[in-house]
Amino acid sequence: MTVKLEIQKNISLADFTTFKIGGLARFFVEVKSIDELIAALSFAASEKLPVFVLGGGSNILVSDQGFIGLVIKIGLSGISVEEEDRSVVLVTAEAGEEWDNFVEFCVENDFAGVECLSGIPGLVGGTPIQNVGAYGQEASESIVSVQVFDRRDKEVETIRNSECGFEYRKSIFNTTEKDRYIVLRVTYRLKRAGTPKIVYADLKDRFNDRIPTLRETREAVLEIREKKGMRVRQGGFDAQSAGSFFKNPIISKESFEKIRVTTEVNGFGNLPFYVVNDGYVKIPAAWLIENAGFAKGFRMGNAGLSTKHSLALSNQGGAAASEILDLKNVIEKQVKEKFGIELTPEPNFVGFTDASID
Ligand code: EPU
Repeated sequence: MTVKLEIQKNISLADFTTFKIGGLARFFVEVKSIDELIAALSFAASEKLPVFVLGGGSNILVSDQGFIGLVIKIGLSGISVEEEDRSVVLVTAEAGEEWDNFVEFCVENDFAGVECLSGIPGLVGGTPIQNVGAYGQEASESIVSVQVFDRRDKEVETIRNSECGFEYRKSIFNTTEKDRYIVLRVTYRLKRAGTPKIVYADLKDRFNDRIPTLRETREAVLEIREKKGMRVRQGGFDAQSAGSFFKNPIISKESFEKIRVTTEVNGFGNLPFYVVNDGYVKIPAAWLIENAGFAKGFRMGNAGLSTKHSLALSNQGGAAASEILDLKNVIEKQVKEKFGIELTPEPNFVGFTDASID
């Protein structure tokens, strides 16, 4: 079968990112089927072009120079439901479906398992890559398998949950096998008429001891996200961000105790933490940033911190990618100096030379 692709030239990437930042893609194509995807990859190979696979653009910072290659936008769509048994359903969503539409679909159908992940911008295909998580739930808890196109072996494959290497914001797709697989569709195992997961403090407080419905949980999560400036589908400069810009550092208990002592001595107040396992704790990057001297709403040129959440670096109007990078570098330096902790950015950097993002 011959596939006709509509390859466009010099397309601005800014409009395809939640940061609203980025230069031009030299070539750009949206693919709506696996055949189109394969044809797009062949075009790139024949022209010797690097490829960047674009999803919802909610977790990337594109350079001001843009991307000198082929950007492939994943436009695969559709959701299907299969019964596993009377109480469990397998819901499969194509990678190009809007994640929040998918969550809404599940909540409306009374399928439990993704309700706390309401309001997250981006596409279904991104959820296994960084093991999206929020308000006490992670995508890896419900993902059964991920159908991918393997760029190395040039074939469609199904990768089971246990093979995905899921950890906090981590999978094989963004670490050991980065750039090898293109996510085509994801299957989630959800509970029919199940109860929502209420473990996050803000949600617990809100419902006291009552078990809310999935719809009530979704509404509550959407409200909390909005209050914290994390529902980045909404308008305003604070929303021109990639959500959390840094991961919450996971450090050993020994390092934590040392830092805790120093922070107390220096009068920074109590350093919050969450126990990850016996030897490690996770600490909020937002706290480190604020206590290193960057308050919510801090500005450096047109880049700044969200006025509602210090972890969201944002484009406060007309910011260049280089301004976001400058702010990132200043924050990383100061957090390192004050607390001895290296922050790791969460978004992917697209079209930068390695030297400029060091
Ligand atoms: N904090 C501050 N200043 C702020 C905000 C928070 O100091 O402006 C401190 C407070 O101590 C607060 C703690 O940070 O108790 C945690 O804050 P929050 O509950 O808002 O969560 P977070 O750790 O900053 C993580 C995820 C978010 C997710 C929320 C809710 C990461 C990197 N981020 O943020 O995910 O929505 O928990 O579960 O793990 C994303 O990844 O893009 C994202 C938005």
